Amino acid sequence: MTTPAPTAIEDLDEQANFDALIAAEQRIEPRDWMPAAYRKTLIRQISQHAHSEIIGMQPEGNWITRAPSLKRKAILMAKVQDEAGHGLYLYSAAQTLGITRDEMTEQLIEGKARYSSIFNYPTPTWADMGAIGWLVDGAAICNQVPLCRASYGPYGRAMVRICKEESFHQRQGFEILLTLMQGTEAQRDMAQDAVNRWYWPSLMMFGPPDDESPNSAQSMQWKIKRFSNDELRQRFIGMLVPQAEILGITLPDPELRWDGDHWHTSEIDWTEFHEVLSGRGPMNAVRLQNRRAAHEEGAWVREAAVVYAAKQAAKQEAAA
Ligand code: 3HC
Repeated sequence: MTTPAPTAIEDLDEQANFDALIAAEQRIEPRDWMPAAYRKTLIRQISQHAHSEIIGMQPEGNWITRAPSLKRKAILMAKVQDEAGHGLYLYSAAQTLGITRDEMTEQLIEGKARYSSIFNYPTPTWADMGAIGWLVDGAAICNQVPLCRASYGPYGRAMVRICKEESFHQRQGFEILLTLMQGTEAQRDMAQDAVNRWYWPSLMMFGPPDDESPNSAQSMQWKIKRFSNDELRQRFIGMLVPQAEILGITLPDPELRWDGDHWHTSEIDWTEFHEVLSGRGPMNAVRLQNRRAAHEEGAWVREAAVVYAAKQAAKQEAAA
């Protein structure tokens, strides 16, 4: 696969320079020349990543008022606040590519933007907080650590801090499940039920199988993606198996086994994946409706900020 040909003579040199930077493991920065297709796929991936962080606040936000203790409430609040921050870092990284925050927000609110499929599932019990931390943030770590080395500077740098916070997210989820698994039979059943519901959707987070991934090959050639969807999915499973043993949790795949060079699994239900991507998941409509409502309810804050900024600018002009 080769980068789409440059359209003008001067771009030939620029293209050669870009290719040399990528080959030398150098970072591409916002002011550098880059192929239009490179910019386009970065805007696509980074904005989706940002949307995922913001929508991802909802499943856990649903339990902040119902956490079983003050300690758990404090931890969950910290995690949800972290996700908001991750979204802001990533929106800022996307903005360096020429798209505005308003454009991205509008795309999300109008249902025209993708966000991670995983956030379209319900969280009916407290154990879901454990399963999300352990599985969803665990998958996020597998996917995001390589992104710290993404060729686009602002994206890779945003990932460094996000990954540090993601590790805390994953550990607190593991600890919730461990506490439940050391509790009553009902608590153990609740934890196992949550893992049964979140396990397969967490495998889908890594994207379709490599042979059905239209973006992977080019993203890997541009060193945005460092590993393929299936490679990271395998790495995630390899991380889960020993941790599930410590938890005493059964991963809900009777065919799961190490066959010498990779993890053999049951078939992943890609029909479910595409249904969720098409907006027909259990919670898609609720997630978007909540995001729209939050945007509308927050309009006064944006208006106040604009008026304040204008007044400040007028004051400075008058003082100049
Ligand atoms: N959910 C929604 N859409 C998905 C998806 C998923 N889990 N996996 C793939 N897709 C979409 C892709 O966006 C692409 O559609 P598009 O061309 O319209 O954008 C299509 O399915 C084909 O997938 P590809 O594998 O070809 O696409 P990519 O090369 O972009 O790979 C990806 C998909 C692995 C999700 C990649 O975009 C990526 O690594 N993104 C950054 C990480 C990210 O977004 N993680 C989401 C979760 S954030 C999170 O977990 C936060 C934590 O704090 C909880």
